[in-house]
Amino acid sequence: MAVLSIGKDCTKPIRRDQAMTTKKSPFGRPGALAALAASLAVFTCGAARASVASTQPPLKPITVNLQDKAALRNGALYVLHMCVACHSLQGARYSSLPRMLGLSESAFKQVIGTNGHHYHDTITTSMPPAIIDAFAKIPPPDLTDIARRHSPAWLFTYLTSFYVDPSRPNGVNNVVFNNVAMPDVFAPLQGLQKPRMVEGLRYGSPAKVAIGVEPLTKGSMTPAQFDRTARDIVEFLYAVAHPHQQERARLGPWIIGLFVVLSILTYLLYKLYWRRVDTSEERWWRVGR
Ligand code: HEC
Repeated sequence: MAVLSIGKDCTKPIRRDQAMTTKKSPFGRPGALAALAASLAVFTCGAARASVASTQPPLKPITVNLQDKAALRNGALYVLHMCVACHSLQGARYSSLPRMLGLSESAFKQVIGTNGHHYHDTITTSMPPAIIDAFAKIPPPDLTDIARRHSPAWLFTYLTSFYVDPSRPNGVNNVVFNNVAMPDVFAPLQGLQKPRMVEGLRYGSPAKVAIGVEPLTKGSMTPAQFDRTARDIVEFLYAVAHPHQQERARLGPWIIGLFVVLSILTYLLYKLYWRRVDTSEERWWRVGR
């Protein structure tokens, strides 16, 4: 169990008159440096306060393999037919997917489809705006943004760690996202789960914190099948959020090779130039003669 902690100073409130002090600074600019230092302190303490000593559940490790086109296609099926009911994926267009999934345009339209949208449209949510407003006042965020912000391990842990919590409006909670507003869309596939609770800290106060889940009821998939599905979804989200990743991996060795060749050529050129330049020792010898 890892616990984040912060320095004691951050618990003291910083007064505005302290921050905007007009005392003469040694550099002659009255208070400018002091104000800068104080605002930095406010900034860093604010960031630290946001994550004040909370018990962090361990993340489940996952390796993302963007070459596995079958996994990406499976992930695309789930995301474009399940998640898009609530979330958008506006960082991508339907037309940008077939190449990534290793499909032709017509195969993509047949196998995965565009949910009635134009082929070149960005991927928007199918949820009407009125329903989004009514959705507990927490609109489902855009998944391309989310997949860039979170690591694959966090996403994988999030998707597999919903647990039954009768105190929540949806009846579920999440190990890595306390009091989440998303319903457990995987309940039919994965079955329900119960939390593994420990005495820990939440925002600095002692609390019961979930650090993992255990199966409660059976779903239509075995745990291994469900993990595979969740991994495919994470792989697809990662691929959509990092559209140039594969190209970068392909070009990287060539670019490094180019730098190596350029370094060799530059070194040879350096040698050529300096062959014609006398060193100071040689010049002295010649003058002396
Ligand atoms: C019934 C609507 C609904 C469906 C279907 C749905 N979600 Fe969500 N999801 C939400 C809502 C609402 C939130 C916002 C939760 C919050 O901020 O408390 C959310 C949050 C998330 C988050 C966390 C975002 C963050 O702020 O860090 C991820 C990741 C996510 N959803 C992934 C998915 C994936 C993947 C699918 C498809 C398998 C999916 N969701 C299907 C409603 C939905």
